[in-house]
Amino acid sequence: MDRIPPAFKRRCIRSGRFAQPPSPRHFIDIAAHETGHLLHLLELTGRLKSGELSGRPLRGRTLAMIFRKNSTRTRVSTEVGMAQLGGHALMISDRESQMGRGESVADTARVLSRYVDGILIRTFAQDEVAELAREASVPVVNGLTDLLHPCQVMADLFTAAEEFGDDLAALRVAWIGDGNNMANSWLNAACRFGFSLRLACPPHYGPDPSILARARSSADVRVCGSPAEAAAAAHVVTTDVWASMGREAERSARAAAFAGYRVDEPLMRRASPDAIFLHCLPAHRGEEVTADVIDGPRSRVLREAENRLHVIKAILLDLIG
Ligand code: CP
Ligand code: NVA
Repeated sequence: MDRIPPAFKRRCIRSGRFAQPPSPRHFIDIAAHETGHLLHLLELTGRLKSGELSGRPLRGRTLAMIFRKNSTRTRVSTEVGMAQLGGHALMISDRESQMGRGESVADTARVLSRYVDGILIRTFAQDEVAELAREASVPVVNGLTDLLHPCQVMADLFTAAEEFGDDLAALRVAWIGDGNNMANSWLNAACRFGFSLRLACPPHYGPDPSILARARSSADVRVCGSPAEAAAAAHVVTTDVWASMGREAERSARAAAFAGYRVDEPLMRRASPDAIFLHCLPAHRGEEVTADVIDGPRSRVLREAENRLHVIKAILLDLIG
């Protein structure tokens, strides 16, 4: 049974030493938001999940969802979330839209802003999302880029808080594997909440250097020499696929480099006795994680996937409600 949603008391605001900018009207990058605003979103998530907040506050509102990469969870949770809030979401894929034939991001942003109340985009380049946000007159949500996956890590933080309580600064998180969009977003979250983050990535597959440097200067972040070192005493052990979308051609080279970076039972035994396993999904059993871990008692991946729905509803309500 799910625990009572955490209350997210303001006490975790003590963390995050680097300058806190005013929270923007978009949701593109966790690090761009004040900790207090992120806590507000997590608190809203809890109230939506518990049913304390209900009704149809987004009645008459429309969200455009641009997907230039595949998706199951992000697309369905956003579409269902908009419907549950009384609004409407419409899918715009590369195949069907003029973007796929080269229409500029700027023109797309300006035109869509005249029809809809918000835009969610999943694409390759982070710059494309930044340009969309610059040119749009409506809020923009980052549904994943090569660099970041902020909505997912918000759901992961909420899932961790359901398990360990709302003092996120007290968390110990271990990231095992690729220094990809998920790893970068965990680093950004560590900046804001000040929890301990240990990363074990194969040589040449580390996270974005500037995101890592910023996180190191403001949070308890360490790059470890081995998965065993990173997992030691962790509350949350988390990983992701070895080859993200767009990296499929590198699959075999990556399989060789990542062979020692699999989350298995012996690795989970290094973690705290009450540790949980998280994975944003989709997963490759037998590659980055063994079936006994992802399908075992410590796994919270289905609750984590469910929480994508509650988190995106909170973000949409905050941005376009
Ligand atoms: N975790 C996640 O973003 O899943 P999708 O790729 O299915 O949206
Ligand atoms: N890192 C993965 C996440 C998928 C949700 C990717 O970008 O493909």
